[in-house]
Amino acid sequence: MGRIVTFSGAGLSAESGLNTFRDKGGIWTKYDANEVCNINKWKKNFELVHEFYNKRRVQLGTVNPNAMHKYFKDLEDRYDTLHITQNVDDLLHRAGCKNVLQIHGQIDKVYCTECGEVYRLGHEEYTFWPCKKCGSKWIKPYVIFFGESAPKYKNLWQEIASLKKDDIVLVVGTSGAVIDIASMTARKPSLKILNNLEEDKYMDDSVFDYVFYGKATTKIDEIDRLIRDKMGH
Ligand code: APR
Ligand code: ZN
Repeated sequence: MGRIVTFSGAGLSAESGLNTFRDKGGIWTKYDANEVCNINKWKKNFELVHEFYNKRRVQLGTVNPNAMHKYFKDLEDRYDTLHITQNVDDLLHRAGCKNVLQIHGQIDKVYCTECGEVYRLGHEEYTFWPCKKCGSKWIKPYVIFFGESAPKYKNLWQEIASLKKDDIVLVVGTSGAVIDIASMTARKPSLKILNNLEEDKYMDDSVFDYVFYGKATTKIDEIDRLIRDKMGH
């Protein structure tokens, strides 16, 4: 029996009310990623960086998982499933998903860059307190910044490398601008399904067996029919 590997981006959480990065009105049209999400500048921009992540973390407390997050939980209940996501929000966890690999980190945490101590903030603001363990002031959002190494990419590559014919890859809500999931899975024998709002210049949709353009929550039934067909239940 095959397994299901989902790969998601900001578009998965768009209908919960969280902005994507590169769509019209996206986060990177309002903030300069280079200033607020850059490993080489975060200490110089310390207050601005935390203002940016505090705003998004507090906003997380005002939104909820949407029908596609809940469908991802449903998949986990029915099949051997792994959810790989670029999203740093907690919506998959709040939808009840357990098998989640967050390769860009988690916005509901911060950590001390001197001693590694991790602090769970939930949906609260970081208010510039020093590390409780070592006293350092260099507390950083638990999110991978541009220019920073992303240790969990190793897990991503391993999972993609292990894809078999009986498996299904479901890609939802990512432009492919940072991770070119299309070329990474192009030569894999698994059934490949893509759902995005619309065509994206970074995403070569020709590598997918099925492509659904439109809001994720409106494509669940069509995607589920394909998955039930392929999985036999
Ligand atoms: N349903 C389905 N897809 C959607 C929806 C929706 N309701 N709304 C938007 N999308 C799709 C868009 O078509 C686009 O392809 O979501 C994608 C959003 O793309 P980006 O804004 O680039 O977000 P993402 O792919 O997650 O960015 C990757 O870039 O800045 C970094 O670390 C950040 O993890 C992020 C990475
Ligand atoms: Zn410390």
